[in-house]
Parts: sequence; structure tokens; C-alpha cells
Amino acid sequence: MDHFLYRDGALHAEDVPVAEIAAAVGTPFYVYSSATLLRHFTLFDDALSWGDHLVCFAMKSASNQAILKLLGDAGAGMDVVSGGEYARARAAGVPGDRIVFSGVGKTVDEMRMALSGGIRQFNIESEPEMRALSAVATAMGVTAPITIRVNPDVDAKTNEKIATGRKGDKFGIPISRASEVYALAASLPGLKVIGIDVHIGSQLTDLEPFRMAYTKVADLTRQLRAEGHEITRLDLGGGLGIPYERSNLAPPLPTDYGELIRETVGDLGCEIEIEPGRLISGNAGILVASTIYVKEGEDRQFLILDAAMNDLIRPAMYGAHHDIIPVVEPTPGAEPAKYDIVGPVCESGDTFAKHRDMPAVNAGDLVAFRSAGAYGAVMSSEYNTRPLIPEVLVQGDQFAVIRPRPTFDDIINRDTIPEWL
Ligand code: LLP
Repeated sequence: MDHFLYRDGALHAEDVPVAEIAAAVGTPFYVYSSATLLRHFTLFDDALSWGDHLVCFAMKSASNQAILKLLGDAGAGMDVVSGGEYARARAAGVPGDRIVFSGVGKTVDEMRMALSGGIRQFNIESEPEMRALSAVATAMGVTAPITIRVNPDVDAKTNEKIATGRKGDKFGIPISRASEVYALAASLPGLKVIGIDVHIGSQLTDLEPFRMAYTKVADLTRQLRAEGHEITRLDLGGGLGIPYERSNLAPPLPTDYGELIRETVGDLGCEIEIEPGRLISGNAGILVASTIYVKEGEDRQFLILDAAMNDLIRPAMYGAHHDIIPVVEPTPGAEPAKYDIVGPVCESGDTFAKHRDMPAVNAGDLVAFRSAGAYGAVMSSEYNTRPLIPEVLVQGDQFAVIRPRPTFDDIINRDTIPEWL
């Protein structure tokens, strides 16, 4: 459920008409609903209320500081994957002891930054990384709390580009070598092993791969404890999917997921962490665009929008589906149409949808891409020197621009031309 609904014939973001925001900030733009973000966070928090836990928002999915502050103030931790994300989370007021540092290639500078600023744990992904952290922590005279990310060799049955838990994927250490790697960790100075980490992929619409992975983690917990390690925390990653197509069957809910966690690892007495991103932010945001032209092609009609692949890359990159709806509610029996929905960027890959059935739209009409709150704004670029589009946050009947649209000068003045040219 989200808070983007038609009311009195017009799409609203909570209590604000989307067209009113468009008039104030211009198109295209992203708009997020505070109530939806909080609702999704709370669903996860409640789903794990049977035990000690922390829901760490995967801020790579939506990293505006206003969103981080909203969730942080509600008690969320953060899952960060770079020094930039760490700095952003801290700037948004999230305490270091609620931040977990994930990622396959943490640099020593990033390690130093997190160790001096405060960190809940590092999720270590390889032996060289572990040795590097040991050296950094020892030089700083501190102890770094760590989990080790294991690769359970489970197929998450999701898009090839976002599956992370199979043997050939770059992530984690093979679970078959866990014993050896935990022994190494225990022998290195400056490290304190506290648990196990796993993340098998994103946009999972079936709980079975989670069940397989978490069962392996439970077995490994028992084994490592028998080998003398203190395993007190399990970080079970993110990945629960969302319904991108309203017409399709809904994926499992956070409550089902929380129950599955209880069934698989609930008897181990460990503190549970999860790192959901998409399910918290995905349906909490939409992308609003204007129709520039409706163009008659030889065998089809093109809806040419002022948003493009640089603003929302998911369709071009993953073949992802986003529902696209008119901002003015279509009247019952409205004229149907079929469009290829595209942006103005100069490549054919700049296509949001092909042969999409939707109510007829005219030049100047506003449309909204649903489920664009996760991996939308954060993956955007200035390709074709198109400015990054604004982000807006709504709460009840108020809205605020939380990232303004840069001017052309802002963009152009970042370049420096060498003296010798
Ligand atoms: N934890 C780790 C270690 C991750 O790598 C990810 C996502 C998450 C948590 C959060 O997963 P989520 O709950 O959001 O599924 N750009 C792609 C998605 C990439 C996901 C990368 N890792 C997309 O637009 O679909």
C-alpha cells in the first residue's frame, strides 16, 4: 500500500495534488511520501518484534538526507556501502552505532573514516579486506566489530544483474570455506568477530531462496559456535521484492518474511539485522514527467516525455517494468491508447515501455511512474547534460524540495578548462 492515490479526479501524494507540486517545481521530479516510508519501515520493525533486532535501511536505494533523517528518527539503522553513504548517514543524524558497512571493496580510507566516526560493524567480504581492516584498526588502537559475509550458493531467482548469492558472484566468501576464514579472523589483531552476514540478491518475489540461505546460516552458526566463535548477531541482508505491476500477484509481505526468519534462525538467541531498501523506498516514490509530444511513428505512437533514461535507468538497464499513469484520473470509458513511452535522450535504449496500453494522453499532460522511489534518483546521471531532477518530500498536506534542480551554470561551472587550452 502507498499514499499515491487519485482523489477528486487528480493524483495526490498524501494530501497534496501532484499537479500542484509540478506547478511549483517544474517537471520532471521525484516525489516521496513520508507516510509510506514510515509505514514500510514499521512493517519490518514489527515483523521482527519477537526478538532483538535492528532494521538497517539500505540507503543505496534512496539516499536523500531528508529520507535518512525521517527513517533514522523512527529508529532505523543504515546499511552503507561507501564513504559517501557513511558521511551522508552521519550528516542526517544517524548515530554510528546504528550503521553497518557493507560492500565488496571497502578502501582503507573508508575503514578509517568509519572507525573514527563510529560504526556498528563491518560486513567483511574477503580475506584481503579482513587483513586491511585489521591493520587499520590496529594502527588506530581500536577494535573493529565484524561479521563475515558468506556466499551460500543459493539462486535468488531474480534478475541476473542483481542476484548475489551464487557461487560465481563476486560477493562474500564461499560458505564451504567459512570455518577457515573465521579462524583467520579470530587470529588477527584489531578485529572482533560478532556474527555472520548474508545477502543473496534483490527483488526476490519468493521466500524459498531466503529459507535456503537462512537455513545454511543457522547451520553455520552452530558449527562456528562449536569451533569456539561467539556468534551473537546475524545480518540477513535485504532483497524482499515489491509488486511493480499492480495487476500481478503480490510478493510476500514483511510479516511473512519476519516469520520465516523466526522459523529459520529464531532459536539461536542472536540479534537480527536486516537491510531492506526497495521494500521501504520503492513504492514510497513516484517520478512525475510531462508529455512533450505525441509522435506518430510508422507503425506505432510514441509518447515523448521530458524524463529520460538518465533520470530513471531501471527500464533500460534491467528491462524493468514501471506502471505509468496519467496524473489526471482517466474517466471511466476513457479512450484507450497504446504507446512506446520514451525520453528525449539520443539512443533507442531510452525507452521506458513498449506497446504499453494506457489511457490516451495529450502533449502537456503529466504522467507518473509508480514504484520509482528505490534505485531511481540515486542511479540518475547528467547524461546529455540533463540536470539531475529535483526530489520532493511530502508529509500530509505539506511538501518541500529536498534536492533542488541544478541550473545549467551549476553543471557547466564544475568543468575546469586547463590553462594551456
Ligand atoms: N544489502 C546489500 C548488501 C545489498 O547489496 C543490497 C542491494 C541491499 C541490502 C538492499 O536490497 P533491496 O532490499 O533493496 O532489494 N539497482 C538495482 C538493485 C540493486 C541492489 C543492490 N544491492 C535495481 O534497480 O533493481
